[in-house]
Amino acid sequence: MKIWTEKYRPSKFGEVFGQRDIVKKVKALAENGNMPHLLFSGPAGIGKTTLALVIAKEMFGENWKGNFLETNASDERGIDVIRNKIKDFARTKSVSTEFPKIIYLDECDSLTREAQQALRRTMETYAGSARFILSCNFSSKLIDPIQSRCAVFRFKPLDKEEITSVIDNIAEKEGLKISNDTKNALFDVCDGDVRRVINTLQSCAVLNKDIGPETIYEVSNFARPKEIDVVIKMALNRDFEKSRNKLLDIMLTNGLSGLDIIKQLQAEIIKLDVEGKTKLEMIKLCGEAEFRLVEGSDEFIQLEALLASFGLLQ
Ligand SMILES: Nc1ncnc2c1ncn2[C@@H]1O[C@H](COP(=O)(O)OP(=O)(O)OP(=O)(O)O)[C@@H](O)[C@H]1O
Ligand SMILES: [Mg+2]
Repeated sequence: MKIWTEKYRPSKFGEVFGQRDIVKKVKALAENGNMPHLLFSGPAGIGKTTLALVIAKEMFGENWKGNFLETNASDERGIDVIRNKIKDFARTKSVSTEFPKIIYLDECDSLTREAQQALRRTMETYAGSARFILSCNFSSKLIDPIQSRCAVFRFKPLDKEEITSVIDNIAEKEGLKISNDTKNALFDVCDGDVRRVINTLQSCAVLNKDIGPETIYEVSNFARPKEIDVVIKMALNRDFEKSRNKLLDIMLTNGLSGLDIIKQLQAEIIKLDVEGKTKLEMIKLCGEAEFRLVEGSDEFIQLEALLASFGLLQ
């Protein structure tokens, strides 16, 4: 059985969901043949690698593999390995095409500043025979000289309508039964990340082709939004102990980390029906707790403090 993210990976521009403006512009650049270096930035699972592969497939046809090098900046030990790999690849002529070869470098934001300087020189050295497509989650981590050498494209998480099209497409081909409630649950769980949608669907389909919202939550390390809502309301009513126990229980049954929980708390607070100012305070408190967790504070102490401070708001 093939993994669905590969089975359903688009191989033509027309098959990419969402990212409409980007696809349109990139398609024009690729067809023109004189493509500049590109920089794709954005969160995980929304089509960066996919679009780079589509460009290669559309420009080079069946010979694309000979003209396309994919390497991952964070896997390779240092920029030297990358440079040698790039050098070996770029110094031979493109196979059966006059377009330059394409080098796709994933996770560029994990390169140190020195490595980025080296990359910048490499990009210049081989600009005649190869084009670079760089990919990263945060373009702000890249040095300016790299950004200014590339046409920058910021990918966005897919919206609900676009995610629904992804789901419908797979449901039809795999014979899945998916209600609107299930689609809503999938959207909650995936945050616009197509890879996560597809993986979740495949895990559910192994159990049953008729997929209910419960199954989505079960396979995806995600607490049911209703339960999180209960925790928040208890905390606001100063039912501190109950709210803390419930939160602990949710974390343990769903295998959630403190950071997962804070994201979910925040999402529920936004939907909450409370006074405007209270809501703003709560969101601010979530941000502070999140920061402390990222810095390495104790999860449980920070989450308890967060619930306690909700109680002190009203
Ligand atoms: N916009 C999209 N349209 C259709 N399928 C998509 C799209 N984005 C992602 N996918 C699906 O999700 C899988 C993963 O996407 P991709 O490898 O392009 O993610 P990425 O943006 O490069 O993420 P990462 O930052 O983690 O590398 C693809 O194989 C494809 O099946
Ligand atoms: Mg990728």
